[in-house]
Amino acid sequence: MVVSDEKLASDVGAEIMKKGGNAIDAAVAVGFALAVVSPEAGNIGGGGFMLVRLANGRTVFIDYREMAPAKAARDMYVKSDGTVDTQASIVGYRAVAVPGTVAGLALALKSYGTMKLADAMAPAIRLAEEGFPVSENLAASLHSMESVFNQFPTSRRIFLKNGAYYQPGEIFRQPDLAATLRRIAKNGPSEFYRGRTGRDLAAEMKHEGGLISLEDLARYEPIIREPLTADYKVNGHAWQVITSPPPSSGSVAIEALNILAPIELKSWNDAQSVHWVIEALRRAFADRATYLADPAFTQIPLRGMMSTCYADVLRRTIDPQRASPSEKIRVGNPAAFGDASSSPGPCPQISSTVAIAQRDDALDRDFAAAATDGQTTHFSVVDAAGNAVANTYTLNNLYGSGVATSDGYFLNDEMDDFTSHPGTPNMFGLIQPEANTIAPGKRPLSSMIPTILLRDGQLSFVTGARGGPRIISGVLLSILNWMRLGEGAQAAINAPRFHQQWLPDTVLLEPNFRPDVARGLEALGYRFADRLGWVGLVEAIGIDPQTGERLGAAEPRRPGAASGF
Ligand code: DON
Repeated sequence: MVVSDEKLASDVGAEIMKKGGNAIDAAVAVGFALAVVSPEAGNIGGGGFMLVRLANGRTVFIDYREMAPAKAARDMYVKSDGTVDTQASIVGYRAVAVPGTVAGLALALKSYGTMKLADAMAPAIRLAEEGFPVSENLAASLHSMESVFNQFPTSRRIFLKNGAYYQPGEIFRQPDLAATLRRIAKNGPSEFYRGRTGRDLAAEMKHEGGLISLEDLARYEPIIREPLTADYKVNGHAWQVITSPPPSSGSVAIEALNILAPIELKSWNDAQSVHWVIEALRRAFADRATYLADPAFTQIPLRGMMSTCYADVLRRTIDPQRASPSEKIRVGNPAAFGDASSSPGPCPQISSTVAIAQRDDALDRDFAAAATDGQTTHFSVVDAAGNAVANTYTLNNLYGSGVATSDGYFLNDEMDDFTSHPGTPNMFGLIQPEANTIAPGKRPLSSMIPTILLRDGQLSFVTGARGGPRIISGVLLSILNWMRLGEGAQAAINAPRFHQQWLPDTVLLEPNFRPDVARGLEALGYRFADRLGWVGLVEAIGIDPQTGERLGAAEPRRPGAASGF
């Protein structure tokens, strides 16, 4: 079973498994196929995370997040008057961080796949060469970029048809990208980092004032990390949540799950249940804004943050009858809870609190408008043997920096995920930690949290989402729906969602959220974002515990597609 944002890509994954490939082969093929059929988010010019659980129980997290180039500097987006140039980290060559996707997918295939790179890439090359019919979504999203593409002639040359935007149903061929993919398939990932493709990129960067050099590309390595895990008992079953470590934010979901562990959750039509989840998110996001970053550059009190004793402290700060103002909350001191994670004994009595990250201006962006639904992309794969992959990768926002290379692919704008200026929100309205400021070789903090759940030791749920920080709320809700509320796989994805990220101190509701529940929240003191918006796009697979059947749960909000056999 493959579930992704695009039917053509899900079909590629199923095709690979039909030919005898395993879930990792399929995931790599889907990753390259999305780079062709979903150029707004699928990519070879970006980066991401792949969480793998092999049928033998082994788990591994492949971090192929982008990296700041050697010439990057802490204040590179701060103008001489001390304010942040918010566009420079989002549009154009200086917004681009060293891409990781090609190295990451190739490493996954070599380590856990069974196929040759050329075979896993063949469907993507075919789609680029022969073309595919442009969907309504693709036509609309390309068109929405008109003002950005107008600044970059190569983007216009490749992604418009003789100066006109593609109409739905027209065939879109990408000969430049096909040639690039062919070279990678033939020469391996080093083609992208040290071969002609890398040299082309370095030359374009130099010519256009970007920072990435051939040395930066040659130095890039994906990192294999231990996933984070947390254990829960729900209705007599032992659950394990396996999720994304720093530089991503799986610990935020675990903190929230820990706070919510003893709380009765009824449904999202019950304002009281929604209240508890929002308050858990508010506190976990405040910790994200204080502590999380690339672990090679900072000490993160991760064990403390994920300890159940720390969750007890945070839970006690929640008023069951009242929304907590974000400005006022003080979190505990997670470092003091060190190794107390899941220890059955009594929790240490620690009452010290620490100041959390503060914002220094009132630049609350209208985050419903700032971060739209499309951009990143997540896919989940489970094969017949029980190998599972959850993969989320991104160019950051739609079409990344807006810059396409002459080799036919878009470049990310992942530099905006760094803290350009502590206290100033990024494009998702996020306040980010001091530890996440820009430095050469650093990976920016991410919200992408591919996640896998086990139930009584068996594979149970594979999930992940697109949507910037809303990914965390969307994935958390999918987990709560499946693990705590016992929803079916599709119902777990369809249920209305909501999002709170500490600052701004508002709650984002989905259009399908019940108005009477919203009024109930208002009575508890909540304020809402100015408009409604989707909270992530989730693409998941549930495993029926009785039959073992793989239940593809595609996102209905902007239709994704499940493809299985
Ligand atoms: O890594 C991150 O957290 C962001 N670059 C993800 C961006 C994203 O999901 C955009 N989608 N709305």
